[in-house]
Amino acid sequence: MPLTASHLSVLYGRRKALTDFSLSMEKGEIRALIGPNGSGKSTALQALAGLLTPSDGRAEIEGVAVASMSRRAIAKKLAFLPQQPTAPDEMTIAQLVRQGRFPHVGLFRSYDRKDEAAIEWALESTGLTRFADRTLQELSGGERQRAWISAALAQEADILLLDEPTSFLDIGYQVEVLDLVHRLSRERGVTILMAIHDINQAIAVSDRICLLEKGELRFDGAPRALAESGLIERTFRVKGRFVEVAPDKPPHFDVELTKLHRPGS
Ligand SMILES: Nc1ncnc2c1ncn2[C@@H]1O[C@H](COP(=O)(O)OP(=O)(O)O)[C@@H](O)[C@H]1O
Ligand SMILES: [Mg+2]
Repeated sequence: MPLTASHLSVLYGRRKALTDFSLSMEKGEIRALIGPNGSGKSTALQALAGLLTPSDGRAEIEGVAVASMSRRAIAKKLAFLPQQPTAPDEMTIAQLVRQGRFPHVGLFRSYDRKDEAAIEWALESTGLTRFADRTLQELSGGERQRAWISAALAQEADILLLDEPTSFLDIGYQVEVLDLVHRLSRERGVTILMAIHDINQAIAVSDRICLLEKGELRFDGAPRALAESGLIERTFRVKGRFVEVAPDKPPHFDVELTKLHRPGS
């Protein structure tokens, strides 16, 4: 298994942000992590990436405990795009993406042709080739988001963890990013776990979906089973219904916006 978590719990001080979180990902699978704000999605991703020390349980990459691996060893296997990544404003896209490649290069050799090819591919896949020399502060929010995705791609890791990769993007780029995610999984066998807010995008692109609520895993299964569970309305406290769009497609969640929903009514 490329990526597993068993009984992971994370505490911030004395408060539990994630409780007994287990998951097991198949190679090349796309899994969406959904849940209300503050439900523990980012915490789960950070724990899987080895950036947070769990109070209990463990994460494993290909059967090796993440806690026992060096940062660089992790980075060769797993690329993580945080929800709010930071870099100096004066950095250019090219520099940022080159930096994404660093785990493969290290201090003791220079970038070779394979590294350059990975960087070029990463820029091209995110439509940034012609922006490469712009600094981050000269970019729109969406372009900056794509620059970070590009840096994660340059890492050429077999596992990709994305924390809300489509936020700040217009709908055109949202679809492009999801399409890229789909291609990475199907054509390169990349295993992808991503936190995402749009239920329909999660359903459309994922093989499986995990639903978190208050740090606990409430559901882990196929998109269609989630649609049939009634959990979306309950967990997000909205009214809506799943509608069939085509026999071979998962249903689409149609949220009720015309009436204000009062909890309990
Ligand atoms: N660094 C932190 N210190 C203390 N509490 C945190 C920290 N990061 C997140 N939390 C809390 O942990 C819970 C889960 O947060 P998070 O994983 O960011 O949720 P999500 O990504 O689903 O919105 C929330 O209640 C949040 O306020
Ligand atoms: Mg988050």
